[in-house]
Amino acid sequence: MTVQLVDLLHQGAQVLVYLGILGTSGLVLFRTVLLDPGARLVDAPVQRLTTLVAAAALGGLLLYLAADGAWRTGAGVSGLVDPGTLWDTLTGTPVGLATVVALVGLVLALGTGATPVGRALTCAGAALALLSLPLAGHSRSFGPAWLVLGSDAVHVLAGAVWFGGVLGLVITLRSSAPAGAAARTVGRFSTAALWVVLALGGTGTVLAWRILPGLDALTGTGYGLTLLAKVAVVGLVVVIAGWNRYRLVPRIGDDDGARARLRRTVGTEAWLLLLAVALTGVLVSQSPTG
Ligand code: HEM
Repeated sequence: MTVQLVDLLHQGAQVLVYLGILGTSGLVLFRTVLLDPGARLVDAPVQRLTTLVAAAALGGLLLYLAADGAWRTGAGVSGLVDPGTLWDTLTGTPVGLATVVALVGLVLALGTGATPVGRALTCAGAALALLSLPLAGHSRSFGPAWLVLGSDAVHVLAGAVWFGGVLGLVITLRSSAPAGAAARTVGRFSTAALWVVLALGGTGTVLAWRILPGLDALTGTGYGLTLLAKVAVVGLVVVIAGWNRYRLVPRIGDDDGARARLRRTVGTEAWLLLLAVALTGVLVSQSPTG
Protein backbone atom coordinates (compact mmCIF):
# COMPACT_ATOMS: atom_id res chain seq x y z
CA MET A 1 0.00 0.00 0.00
CA THR A 2 2.74 2.47 1.01
CA VAL A 3 4.74 1.43 -2.06
CA GLN A 4 1.65 2.13 -4.20
CA LEU A 5 1.37 5.57 -2.61
CA VAL A 6 5.01 6.27 -3.42
CA ASP A 7 4.40 5.14 -7.04
CA LEU A 8 1.40 7.44 -7.26
CA LEU A 9 3.36 10.40 -5.87
CA HIS A 10 6.23 9.64 -8.26
CA GLN A 11 3.86 9.70 -11.22
CA GLY A 12 1.91 12.75 -10.03
CA ALA A 13 5.14 14.67 -9.43
CA GLN A 14 6.35 13.76 -12.93
CA VAL A 15 3.13 15.12 -14.44
CA LEU A 16 3.51 18.37 -12.45
CA VAL A 17 7.14 18.71 -13.55
CA TYR A 18 6.24 18.30 -17.23
CA LEU A 19 3.27 20.68 -17.07
CA GLY A 20 5.25 23.22 -15.04
CA ILE A 21 8.45 23.18 -17.10
CA LEU A 22 6.79 22.99 -20.52
CA GLY A 23 4.32 25.70 -19.45
CA THR A 24 6.96 28.05 -17.99
CA SER A 25 9.42 27.69 -20.88
CA GLY A 26 6.71 27.83 -23.53
CA LEU A 27 5.14 30.98 -22.06
CA VAL A 28 8.56 32.68 -21.87
CA LEU A 29 9.20 31.86 -25.54
CA PHE A 30 5.67 33.02 -26.46
CA ARG A 31 6.17 36.38 -24.73
CA THR A 32 9.63 36.89 -26.20
CA VAL A 33 9.21 35.64 -29.75
CA LEU A 34 5.55 35.34 -30.74
CA LEU A 35 3.65 38.10 -28.93
CA ASP A 36 3.17 41.15 -31.16
CA PRO A 37 4.49 44.45 -29.66
CA GLY A 38 0.99 45.94 -30.20
CA ALA A 39 -0.46 43.38 -27.76
CA ARG A 40 1.86 44.28 -24.86
CA LEU A 41 -1.06 44.62 -22.42
CA VAL A 42 -1.07 40.82 -22.47
CA ASP A 43 2.43 40.82 -20.92
CA ALA A 44 1.24 41.07 -17.30
CA PRO A 45 -1.33 38.19 -17.37
CA VAL A 46 1.15 36.01 -19.27
CA GLN A 47 3.79 36.77 -16.62
CA ARG A 48 1.29 35.89 -13.86
CA LEU A 49 0.48 32.53 -15.45
CA THR A 50 4.21 31.89 -15.96
CA THR A 51 4.79 32.39 -12.21
CA LEU A 52 1.90 30.03 -11.42
CA VAL A 53 3.12 27.20 -13.66
CA ALA A 54 6.71 27.73 -12.44
CA ALA A 55 5.41 27.27 -8.87
CA ALA A 56 3.76 24.00 -10.02
CA ALA A 57 7.11 22.94 -11.54
CA LEU A 58 8.93 23.77 -8.30
CA GLY A 59 6.42 21.76 -6.23
CA GLY A 60 6.67 18.89 -8.72
CA LEU A 61 10.49 18.91 -8.66
CA LEU A 62 10.68 18.76 -4.85
CA LEU A 63 8.03 16.06 -4.63
CA TYR A 64 9.74 14.08 -7.40
CA LEU A 65 13.10 14.30 -5.61
CA ALA A 66 11.53 12.90 -2.42
CA ALA A 67 9.44 10.25 -4.22
CA ASP A 68 12.35 9.11 -6.38
CA GLY A 69 14.51 8.38 -3.33
CA ALA A 70 11.70 6.46 -1.60
CA TRP A 71 10.95 4.58 -4.82
CA ARG A 72 14.64 3.77 -5.56
CA THR A 73 15.37 2.47 -2.05
CA GLY A 74 12.00 0.72 -1.68
CA ALA A 75 11.67 2.42 1.73
CA GLY A 76 8.00 3.31 1.28
CA VAL A 77 6.45 6.48 2.69
CA SER A 78 9.11 6.89 5.43
CA GLY A 79 11.74 7.23 2.65
CA LEU A 80 10.00 10.40 1.42
CA VAL A 81 11.32 12.49 4.29
CA ASP A 82 14.53 10.64 5.14
CA PRO A 83 17.32 13.29 4.98
CA GLY A 84 19.99 10.72 4.03
CA THR A 85 17.94 9.36 1.11
CA LEU A 86 17.13 12.89 -0.07
CA TRP A 87 20.80 13.86 0.07
CA ASP A 88 21.86 10.71 -1.82
CA THR A 89 19.26 11.38 -4.54
CA LEU A 90 20.34 15.02 -4.84
CA THR A 91 24.08 14.39 -4.99
CA GLY A 92 24.41 10.92 -6.47
CA THR A 93 21.74 10.41 -9.14
CA PRO A 94 20.77 11.92 -12.52
CA VAL A 95 17.51 13.04 -10.89
CA GLY A 96 19.51 15.23 -8.48
CA LEU A 97 21.46 16.83 -11.33
CA ALA A 98 18.28 17.33 -13.39
CA THR A 99 16.56 18.96 -10.38
CA VAL A 100 19.39 21.46 -9.86
CA VAL A 101 19.55 22.33 -13.59
CA ALA A 102 15.75 22.75 -13.71
CA LEU A 103 15.73 25.01 -10.63
CA VAL A 104 18.46 27.28 -12.03
CA GLY A 105 16.60 27.40 -15.35
CA LEU A 106 13.26 28.27 -13.71
CA VAL A 107 14.79 31.08 -11.63
CA LEU A 108 16.36 32.61 -14.77
CA ALA A 109 13.15 32.12 -16.78
CA LEU A 110 11.15 34.07 -14.20
CA GLY A 111 13.09 37.31 -14.83
CA THR A 112 11.05 40.23 -16.16
CA GLY A 113 12.91 40.26 -19.49
CA ALA A 114 12.58 44.05 -19.65
CA THR A 115 15.93 44.60 -21.45
CA PRO A 116 17.51 42.69 -24.36
CA VAL A 117 19.99 41.06 -21.92
CA GLY A 118 17.10 40.23 -19.57
CA ARG A 119 15.18 38.65 -22.46
CA ALA A 120 18.22 36.58 -23.46
CA LEU A 121 18.56 35.40 -19.85
CA THR A 122 14.88 34.38 -19.58
CA CYS A 123 15.18 32.43 -22.86
CA ALA A 124 18.41 30.77 -21.65
CA GLY A 125 16.59 29.83 -18.43
CA ALA A 126 13.67 28.38 -20.41
CA ALA A 127 16.10 26.30 -22.52
CA LEU A 128 18.00 25.11 -19.41
CA ALA A 129 14.79 24.03 -17.65
CA LEU A 130 13.75 22.09 -20.78
CA LEU A 131 17.16 20.45 -21.15
CA SER A 132 16.90 19.16 -17.57
CA LEU A 133 14.15 16.77 -18.76
CA PRO A 134 16.26 14.47 -21.00
CA LEU A 135 18.91 14.36 -18.21
CA ALA A 136 16.75 12.02 -16.13
CA GLY A 137 14.33 10.44 -18.63
CA HIS A 138 14.19 7.01 -20.29
CA SER A 139 16.08 8.32 -23.29
CA ARG A 140 19.38 8.26 -21.31
CA SER A 141 19.27 4.47 -21.35
CA PHE A 142 18.95 4.02 -25.13
CA GLY A 143 21.29 4.67 -28.00
CA PRO A 144 22.78 5.99 -30.10
CA ALA A 145 23.03 8.78 -27.51
CA TRP A 146 23.35 11.60 -30.06
CA LEU A 147 20.15 10.50 -31.80
CA VAL A 148 18.03 9.73 -28.76
CA LEU A 149 19.13 12.64 -26.55
CA GLY A 150 19.10 15.03 -29.55
CA SER A 151 15.56 13.92 -30.48
CA ASP A 152 14.46 14.22 -26.85
CA ALA A 153 15.84 17.79 -26.60
CA VAL A 154 14.05 18.86 -29.82
CA HIS A 155 10.90 17.03 -28.66
CA VAL A 156 10.63 18.91 -25.36
CA LEU A 157 11.48 22.25 -27.01
CA ALA A 158 8.75 21.74 -29.65
CA GLY A 159 6.29 20.53 -26.98
CA ALA A 160 6.98 23.67 -24.92
CA VAL A 161 6.49 26.02 -27.90
CA TRP A 162 3.14 24.36 -28.67
CA PHE A 163 1.81 24.07 -25.11
CA GLY A 164 3.04 27.49 -23.94
CA GLY A 165 2.01 29.08 -27.25
CA VAL A 166 -1.54 27.79 -26.95
CA LEU A 167 -1.76 29.04 -23.32
CA GLY A 168 -0.45 32.45 -24.43
CA LEU A 169 -2.96 32.56 -27.32
CA VAL A 170 -5.89 31.84 -24.99
CA ILE A 171 -4.85 34.86 -22.89
CA THR A 172 -4.32 37.04 -25.97
CA LEU A 173 -7.67 36.17 -27.53
CA ARG A 174 -9.50 36.80 -24.25
CA SER A 175 -7.81 40.19 -23.75
CA SER A 176 -8.80 43.53 -25.24
CA ALA A 177 -5.64 43.55 -27.39
CA PRO A 178 -6.26 45.35 -30.73
CA ALA A 179 -7.57 43.01 -33.47
CA GLY A 180 -4.53 43.62 -35.72
CA ALA A 181 -1.97 42.82 -32.98
CA ALA A 182 -3.92 39.71 -31.92
CA ALA A 183 -4.14 38.56 -35.56
CA ARG A 184 -0.38 39.03 -36.07
CA THR A 185 0.34 37.03 -32.87
CA VAL A 186 -1.98 34.23 -34.00
CA GLY A 187 -0.39 34.30 -37.49
CA ARG A 188 3.14 33.94 -36.07
CA PHE A 189 2.05 31.10 -33.81
CA SER A 190 0.29 29.32 -36.70
CA THR A 191 3.45 29.41 -38.82
CA ALA A 192 5.56 28.10 -35.93
CA ALA A 193 2.94 25.44 -35.09
CA LEU A 194 3.33 23.73 -38.44
CA TRP A 195 7.07 23.13 -37.82
CA VAL A 196 6.40 22.24 -34.20
CA VAL A 197 3.94 19.49 -35.17
CA LEU A 198 6.39 18.06 -37.73
CA ALA A 199 9.23 18.16 -35.17
CA LEU A 200 7.10 16.50 -32.45
CA GLY A 201 5.86 13.76 -34.77
CA GLY A 202 9.37 13.07 -36.15
CA THR A 203 11.23 13.10 -32.84
CA GLY A 204 8.40 11.28 -31.02
CA THR A 205 8.60 8.49 -33.63
CA VAL A 206 12.40 8.26 -33.23
CA LEU A 207 12.02 8.04 -29.42
CA ALA A 208 9.35 5.34 -29.69
CA TRP A 209 11.48 3.39 -32.22
CA ARG A 210 14.56 3.42 -29.98
CA ILE A 211 12.74 2.86 -26.64
CA LEU A 212 10.18 0.16 -27.58
CA PRO A 213 11.61 -3.36 -27.82
CA GLY A 214 9.39 -4.10 -30.85
CA LEU A 215 6.10 -3.29 -32.55
CA ASP A 216 4.31 -5.91 -30.37
CA ALA A 217 5.05 -3.78 -27.30
CA LEU A 218 2.77 -1.07 -28.72
CA THR A 219 -0.34 -3.13 -28.05
CA GLY A 220 1.06 -5.68 -25.58
CA THR A 221 2.32 -3.41 -22.77
CA GLY A 222 0.88 -0.65 -20.60
CA TYR A 223 3.67 1.60 -21.94
CA GLY A 224 2.64 0.95 -25.56
CA LEU A 225 -1.06 1.52 -24.86
CA THR A 226 -0.33 4.78 -23.02
CA LEU A 227 1.78 5.88 -26.00
CA LEU A 228 -1.08 5.05 -28.40
CA ALA A 229 -3.50 7.05 -26.19
CA LYS A 230 -1.08 9.99 -26.26
CA VAL A 231 -0.74 9.84 -30.05
CA ALA A 232 -4.56 9.72 -30.40
CA VAL A 233 -4.95 12.84 -28.23
CA VAL A 234 -2.19 14.63 -30.18
CA GLY A 235 -3.87 13.60 -33.46
CA LEU A 236 -7.10 15.22 -32.27
CA VAL A 237 -5.24 18.42 -31.39
CA VAL A 238 -3.64 18.45 -34.85
CA VAL A 239 -7.09 18.22 -36.49
CA ILE A 240 -8.37 21.15 -34.37
CA ALA A 241 -5.18 23.13 -35.03
CA GLY A 242 -5.58 22.53 -38.79
CA TRP A 243 -9.19 23.76 -38.66
CA ASN A 244 -8.04 26.88 -36.77
CA ARG A 245 -5.20 27.58 -39.15
CA TYR A 246 -7.03 27.18 -42.44
CA ARG A 247 -10.60 28.20 -41.48
CA LEU A 248 -10.53 30.64 -38.57
CA VAL A 249 -7.12 32.35 -38.53
CA PRO A 250 -7.51 34.02 -41.99
CA ARG A 251 -10.72 35.69 -40.76
CA ILE A 252 -9.93 36.92 -37.26
CA GLY A 253 -8.62 40.37 -38.30
CA ASP A 254 -12.05 41.50 -39.52
CA ASP A 255 -14.62 39.06 -38.07
CA ASP A 256 -15.38 39.21 -34.33
CA GLY A 257 -17.34 35.93 -34.54
CA ALA A 258 -14.23 34.16 -35.90
CA ARG A 259 -12.16 35.55 -33.01
CA ALA A 260 -14.66 34.20 -30.46
CA ARG A 261 -14.77 30.79 -32.18
CA LEU A 262 -10.98 30.69 -32.34
CA ARG A 263 -10.82 31.52 -28.62
CA ARG A 264 -13.02 28.51 -27.88
CA THR A 265 -11.20 26.05 -30.13
CA VAL A 266 -7.75 27.19 -28.90
CA GLY A 267 -9.08 26.66 -25.35
CA THR A 268 -10.01 23.07 -26.28
CA GLU A 269 -6.54 22.64 -27.81
CA ALA A 270 -4.99 23.78 -24.50
CA TRP A 271 -6.99 21.22 -22.47
CA LEU A 272 -6.13 18.40 -24.87
CA LEU A 273 -2.43 19.29 -24.84
CA LEU A 274 -2.58 19.30 -21.05
CA LEU A 275 -3.96 15.76 -21.28
CA ALA A 276 -1.16 14.75 -23.70
CA VAL A 277 1.48 16.11 -21.30
CA ALA A 278 -0.20 14.34 -18.35
CA LEU A 279 -0.21 11.08 -20.34
CA THR A 280 3.51 11.59 -20.97
CA GLY A 281 4.01 11.70 -17.19
CA VAL A 282 2.24 8.34 -16.92
CA LEU A 283 4.19 7.02 -19.95
CA VAL A 284 7.67 7.70 -18.59
CA SER A 285 6.76 6.20 -15.19
CA GLN A 286 6.28 2.80 -16.85
CA SER A 287 8.72 0.25 -18.15
CA PRO A 288 8.73 0.01 -21.97
CA THR A 289 9.15 -3.76 -21.69
CA GLY A 290 5.87 -4.13 -19.78
C1 HEM B 1 2.91 12.25 -32.45
C2 HEM B 1 3.24 12.87 -31.38
C3 HEM B 1 4.11 12.36 -30.26
C4 HEM B 1 4.76 11.16 -30.10
C5 HEM B 1 4.79 9.97 -31.04
C6 HEM B 1 5.47 11.23 -28.85
C7 HEM B 1 6.26 10.21 -28.32
C8 HEM B 1 7.05 10.32 -27.20
C9 HEM B 1 7.92 9.28 -26.67
C10 HEM B 1 8.08 7.89 -27.27
C11 HEM B 1 8.53 9.78 -25.57
C12 HEM B 1 9.56 9.05 -24.69
C13 HEM B 1 8.94 8.60 -23.42
C14 HEM B 1 9.96 7.93 -22.50
O1 HEM B 1 10.97 8.56 -22.13
O2 HEM B 1 9.73 6.76 -22.15
C15 HEM B 1 8.05 11.13 -25.38
C16 HEM B 1 8.44 11.96 -24.35
C17 HEM B 1 7.92 13.19 -24.13
N1 HEM B 1 6.97 13.86 -24.88
FE1 HEM B 1 6.09 13.17 -26.56
N2 HEM B 1 5.23 12.46 -28.27
C18 HEM B 1 4.40 13.18 -29.09
C19 HEM B 1 3.87 14.43 -28.86
C20 HEM B 1 4.13 15.19 -27.74
C21 HEM B 1 3.49 16.45 -27.41
C22 HEM B 1 2.43 17.14 -28.26
C23 HEM B 1 4.05 16.90 -26.24
C24 HEM B 1 3.77 18.14 -25.46
C25 HEM B 1 3.00 19.12 -25.79
C26 HEM B 1 5.02 15.92 -25.82
C27 HEM B 1 5.80 16.01 -24.68
C28 HEM B 1 6.71 15.06 -24.27
C29 HEM B 1 7.54 15.20 -23.08
C30 HEM B 1 7.54 16.36 -22.09
C31 HEM B 1 8.32 14.03 -23.00
C32 HEM B 1 9.31 13.64 -21.89
C33 HEM B 1 10.72 13.92 -22.29
C34 HEM B 1 11.73 13.57 -21.21
O3 HEM B 1 11.39 13.42 -20.04
O4 HEM B 1 12.91 13.48 -21.53
N3 HEM B 1 5.04 14.88 -26.75
N4 HEM B 1 7.14 11.43 -26.38
